[in-house]
Amino acid sequence: LKKHFKYENGKLLWGLQSIDLQSYLNNYHNPVYFYDIQLIASRFLEMKNQLRGVDIFYAMKANPHIDILKKLKTLGCKVDVVSGGEINRALSVGFFPQDIVFSGVGKTISEINLAFDLQILQINVESLPELERIIKISQQKNKPISIALRLNPNVDIKTHPYIATGLQENKFGIDISQLDQAINLLRSQTLVELAGVSLHLGSQMQEFSGFQQALLKLKSDFLSLQKYFPTCKKFDVGGGLGIRYEETDLEWESQSLQNYSEIIFSTFRDVKAQLQTEPGRWLVAHAGVLVCQVQYIKQTPFKEFVVLDSGMNHLIRPAFYQAFHQILPLQQKNGPEKVYDFVGPICESSDFFAKNRKSLELRSGDFVAVLDCGAYASSMSSIYNLKDPAAEVCL
Ligand code: LLP
Repeated sequence: LKKHFKYENGKLLWGLQSIDLQSYLNNYHNPVYFYDIQLIASRFLEMKNQLRGVDIFYAMKANPHIDILKKLKTLGCKVDVVSGGEINRALSVGFFPQDIVFSGVGKTISEINLAFDLQILQINVESLPELERIIKISQQKNKPISIALRLNPNVDIKTHPYIATGLQENKFGIDISQLDQAINLLRSQTLVELAGVSLHLGSQMQEFSGFQQALLKLKSDFLSLQKYFPTCKKFDVGGGLGIRYEETDLEWESQSLQNYSEIIFSTFRDVKAQLQTEPGRWLVAHAGVLVCQVQYIKQTPFKEFVVLDSGMNHLIRPAFYQAFHQILPLQQKNGPEKVYDFVGPICESSDFFAKNRKSLELRSGDFVAVLDCGAYASSMSSIYNLKDPAAEVCL
């Protein structure tokens, strides 16, 4: 069993406090996301300890639940946002504008206006036209703003193509060949201040050769930018630190965090820079489970399906990225091992959580927990087929 899961008297217990999930279910009719806030706190503290001196901006898109944000705030975490909605969510839980970095390729005029009016810490600029738009707004308002240039180093981090962002074919970041144009735009005015350089190569990085290559590439751009712009002091290494979904390996993840931080620190040893990072998944993924109920066991001559009351409407990662999530019954019963397709109620053949998955035998009415649903699960859910959203409960 994965770490933080165990069966006691046939009941699945979860989290740092070994919570009996089934005992919470009577209060809810729909599938429920449970979050273990203490686990998130302990992950944050581990990262903070390892990345000493680095400012941590939680990528709120992974999970913007209010209690998670509040907890992270009390621990000294800041936030990375990608929309006006996320800016407002950050403010609503007490983050200050100076705790906010604003990323994303499609910032609208009204979102940029909001960033100016609040005087947030930094806008990570993704393109030349975006830079032009920001300069224009600064002149209209006669207000300053700090930005970082998000550069695209064209580096492969060997992840799923849908979550790779640092290749030249991706829409993200400013191509290094266009850096001179960005410099000229910035030098033609005074209100938009270059505070630094940022990158984000993609998500679920499991090894760091591409990351290291990108840091080295962009370090030299950073140093030359510093010659033109004395204000250019921050280097934002983005998010992307991966986790293990298939097996329990928190030791591997801690080691991976250590390797990641060593690469960052050794690359910037000889540079004066305030380092920033934007983790999402690593902090919260393990700290969520989705509990749902078996509606039918549907047997055909070819397959045995477990039809659940939750599907791609609540958790789209398996359909979208063929992502793996472990599934455990809440009740451990004796019985034969089966091979099932775990599917949802949505009218799409891509609506599955797992295919050909070994499991204890299940019956209609049983509950199962889908593991590692703290990141990019509820935050990516939809009301497709007008199904109700899952409830969210912080333990
Ligand atoms: N910074 C920026 C600018 C980002 O776009 C992202 C994630 C992060 C930081 C945080 O990355 P993380 O540390 O969580 O890997 N929906 C996908 C993941 C998409 C990530 C999008 N950007 C999934 O479910 O795997």
